[in-house]
This record gives sequence, C-alpha cells and structure tokens, in this order.
Amino acid sequence: MEPLTQPNEKTIATTRPKIFEVTNLNVYYPDFRAIRDVSLNVAANEITAFIGPSGCGKTTMLRSFNRMNDLIPTAKITGTLLYRGADLYNKTVDPVEVRRRIGMVFQKPNPFPKSIYDNVAYGPRISGKVKKGTEMDDLVESSLRKAALWEEVKDRLKSSALGMSGGQQQRLCIARAIATNPDVVLMDEPCSALDPIATGKIEELMTQLKKEYTILIVTHNMQQAARVSDRTAFFSVEVEEEHDSRTGVLVEEGPTEKIFSNPNDQRTENYITGRFG
Ligand SMILES: Nc1ncnc2c1ncn2[C@@H]1O[C@H](COP(=O)(O)OP(=O)(O)O)[C@@H](O)[C@H]1O
Ligand SMILES: [Mg+2]
Repeated sequence: MEPLTQPNEKTIATTRPKIFEVTNLNVYYPDFRAIRDVSLNVAANEITAFIGPSGCGKTTMLRSFNRMNDLIPTAKITGTLLYRGADLYNKTVDPVEVRRRIGMVFQKPNPFPKSIYDNVAYGPRISGKVKKGTEMDDLVESSLRKAALWEEVKDRLKSSALGMSGGQQQRLCIARAIATNPDVVLMDEPCSALDPIATGKIEELMTQLKKEYTILIVTHNMQQAARVSDRTAFFSVEVEEEHDSRTGVLVEEGPTEKIFSNPNDQRTENYITGRFG
C-alpha cells in the first residue's frame, strides 16, 4: 500500500496544471537587462498577481507572455517560455495568433473611437471567423455579459464607446479581449485609472472570469493582489555589478495567502509591510 504522506508545497506546485512554464527568462533593452533569469510556472484558471516596486520589470514580464515585447524592436529576449507545452517563441509560431489566444488589457482604458458594438465586434470581424448578423449580435451580447456590462449598455450599443465612464470603458476593453475567445487574459494595472467603485467591479469581474480564463495581473496595489489573486509573484530590483545597472528579479512566488502572511524572503516581508531596503 502507498504510504500516506502529506503533500508538501513542492508536490502541490508540480501537480498544478501548468499553462505557462517560464525558464531562465531574460529581457534586455539596449542599455540594460530589464529582467534576469526568471523561472516561474503559471497554473490554468488561477489569477496570478505580479507585484513589486516601480521599474522592477512587471510590465516587461507580462508582455513576454503574449509576445508584445516583439513590438519593441530594441527588446531582446532569451530563455524559454512554454505555453501549454509549446515554445511561444518558436519561429513557426504566429505572434498574431498568440495575441488572440492571450489577450491583454492595459493600464488606461483604450477603447477604439467607435461604437460600443463595434469595439467588441472588432476582433471577431478581422479574424473573419464570425459572420455578420445574429451570430455577431450573439457574440457581442455574450462578451458584454461576461464583462458585466450588458445591462448598462444594451440600449445604446450604437453610441460611442468614448461616452462611457472610465470603469465602463475598462470593462468594454475586457469584453473586447474576450470576444476573440482567448485562453488567457493579461491585465497591466487595469484599475490604476479607476475610482474605488469601478475598481471593485473589475475585481469582482476577475473572479468570475477565472472560471473560464487564466488571468495574469500586474498591480501596484497590494491589497488588490491580496483580494483577487490565488498566487502572487514578488519582483524586486537588484544592482548588476558587472553592467553597472539595475535589473528586475523574481524574489519569490507562491500562494497569495502565504506571500502576504509568511513569505520566505526578507525582501518580500519588507515590501509587504511597507519597509523598503
Ligand atoms: N521600451 C523600453 N525601452 C527601454 N527601457 C524600457 C522600456 N520599457 C521599459 N523600460 C525600462 O525597463 C525597466 C522595467 O520597466 P517595466 O517593465 O515597465 O517595469 P514596471 O512595470 O515594474 O514598472 C524600467 O527601468 C524601464 O524604464
Ligand atoms: Mg508597469
């Protein structure tokens, strides 16, 4: 008979269904290395939060997950990033398809200067997979419902998205991201331009969305990370002596509750308790 053993943290970590496996990831800008040797696994249908001081490479890290760094000609990336077992940076991989499957929501809501309907229909239209008419109407409605926006906008789908409040615009951007049927949604400080009520709505929405999607969120708001995420990765800045520059490193990653109550590393402890240095 199998011995009965308590699963330790390591076995739990290795049995979580992995959606991303990052190994020794480095991202270089022309003058320095923005993140150094990051290794990290991300599980499906969880919310993983990236926290850490400004400039520690959180946005750079997030952009690596859907090859948005490709759009910065001077950025260079080394190491491996597997998505569902496949090398995301393999030459045969189409970055446009990557960004359809791994959608992104930005810091500042950035709806197109189009109608509410057309913002959501935009991605499905260019992919050519959804025909006009009721099929598109249904997709727009279901996307807006999933983004908890339908009831507020169903009577004004043809009016401009720019007339909405900031919080509504951000939920519209979420609806736009999920309309293309992604697997993962990346969010870079999605509430930083929003008031507390709009922020609360997005946080509530995120916990709904994780049933269907995997979410990676960058936030400078530690309370937000503690409220919404299952796992938290804490990044910090280190001096690279040999290059006379600063770089971002992953200090530790683990269950959010543990990171905020009993982290392994003193640097994490200092950060979460507001003591720096
Ligand atoms: N396109 C870029 N070119 C050069 N340096 C950049 C670029 N984007 C970010 N950086 C630098 O890389 C470091 C990490 O930036 P970023 O990933 O935005 O950090 P965070 O999101 O944690 O604030 C910072 O020093 C920033 O100034
Ligand atoms: Mg950032």
